Amino acid sequence: MYRWILAFHIIAVIAWMAGMLYLPRLFVYHCAAEKGSAQSETFKVMERRLLRGIINPAMIAVWVLGLWLAWDGPDSHYGWFASGWLQAKLVLVLAMSALHGLLSRWRKDFAADSNRHSQKFYRIINEVPTALLILIVILAVVKPF
Ligand code: HEM
Repeated sequence: MYRWILAFHIIAVIAWMAGMLYLPRLFVYHCAAEKGSAQSETFKVMERRLLRGIINPAMIAVWVLGLWLAWDGPDSHYGWFASGWLQAKLVLVLAMSALHGLLSRWRKDFAADSNRHSQKFYRIINEVPTALLILIVILAVVKPF
């Protein structure tokens, strides 16, 4: 059973990360589209569907399956929660979830034609999930502590 949950945890992680990397990229292009243009309206639909159809459900699945695995870990009382790598991973996953919340807020701003950030801002933001992803995968696979 544990291996099945792990497989679906990784599938959900891939879907969540695909969306977290793509949404800020859409924002970069959206910045260049004139407000009210057909292109801008198309970006709004793409952003809403990406967030509601993929990113939100994938994040819920990652959390539910990840916590399930964590409780099922080797320590009979605390599962994987007793391990340093999981504690560090949880901090980084909370940061990823907070970024998710921010992306969600910025999507609403774009939908209302009231985006306040520059293309450069979203280009920089685009690097954050990449950095978090690398650290989280190293912690989960190498378990350095
Ligand atoms: C939401 C909270 C999360 C929890 C509680 C959690 C917990 C866990 C646990 C307990 C394992 C099993 C480790 C093992 O059996 O060796 C695992 C595996 C894994 N997790 Fe997560 N995880 C979470 C989110 C994430 C995220 C966001 C990512 C990537 C960005 C991720 C990537 C992985 C990978 C790649 C593995 C496979 C490790 C292996 O089999 O060697 N997890 N996770």
